[in-house]
Amino acid sequence: MSFSYGGRPALRGLSFSAPPGSFTALMGASASGKSTWAKLLNAILLPQSGTVFVGGLATEVEENRPLVRRLAGLVSQNPDDHIVAATVEEDTAFGPGNLGLPPAEVRERVDEALALTGLTALRQKDVGQLSGGQKQKLALAGVLALRPRALVLDEATAMLDPAGRREVLDTVCALRQSDKLTVFWCTHRPEEALRADRLVVLRDGVIAWEGEPTAGLSRADLSDCGILPPPCGALLQKLAAAGRAVPVTALTPAACAAALAAFWPRRRENDGVCEC
Ligand SMILES: Nc1ncnc2c1ncn2[C@@H]1O[C@H](COP(=O)(O)OP(=O)(O)OP(=O)(O)O)[C@@H](O)[C@H]1O
Ligand SMILES: [Mg+2]
Repeated sequence: MSFSYGGRPALRGLSFSAPPGSFTALMGASASGKSTWAKLLNAILLPQSGTVFVGGLATEVEENRPLVRRLAGLVSQNPDDHIVAATVEEDTAFGPGNLGLPPAEVRERVDEALALTGLTALRQKDVGQLSGGQKQKLALAGVLALRPRALVLDEATAMLDPAGRREVLDTVCALRQSDKLTVFWCTHRPEEALRADRLVVLRDGVIAWEGEPTAGLSRADLSDCGILPPPCGALLQKLAAAGRAVPVTALTPAACAAALAAFWPRRRENDGVCEC
């Protein structure tokens, strides 16, 4: 499918499919088309050519759109886009309330969504008094309360501190396991992409690379797409450039530590010096 804003192409000739329960990370430099893609998955935007299917439903069919929006919950880049009510609790209840669910079920869903996002203690708080990161968690809570089959997260942790980012990522990964959620995560952060089972890299609205995240994050030819290795990868690349035979794809701290532990004892045996 392709999409243009007023004749200016933003996405060109994309062909892509995310199997149920998969976790796809979408990366790419600013203006490469990530948010546009996310909005197409939630039927906020419609492709000008080609078709987007969500759960087998084509988004171009108007009658499909309410269900598409419930199936694929979008947490957009700007949390203020989501706020519709005065308090945290009311805001989270807005979506399920609109579905016409019985009040007891709305309450149950709100309790669950606030617990999952760590917002239970703030449930009575005025949304105008929330920090940017708290608003991002509230946006996620509102989407989770709709119990979607897929989560489309567009830089949904950008305003959170490192602990908050890990919390949200862990929550999403746990939901993926327990509820078989399909996850589509737009991010600039390699450590988030490493949790995915597939990485897609956009360059100027075209898929530049697609594959296993550690392979993509180790590639120097994607640096113009904003793809840089996480700190462990950068360390290993420096060692490799200095002639050390370390694997540059050991990108997580655990894998990197194991790679270094495997390398240095051998060096010590061979030449009797520890170069650490
Ligand atoms: N509402 C709009 N009207 C016109 N052009 C737009 C609009 N939204 C996005 N664009 C353009 O479409 C292209 C893709 O933008 P998009 O927001 O999808 O990029 P992105 O990869 O999400 O960037 P970022 O990492 O900065 O969020 C850019 O050239 C942008 O200027
Ligand atoms: Mg964006």
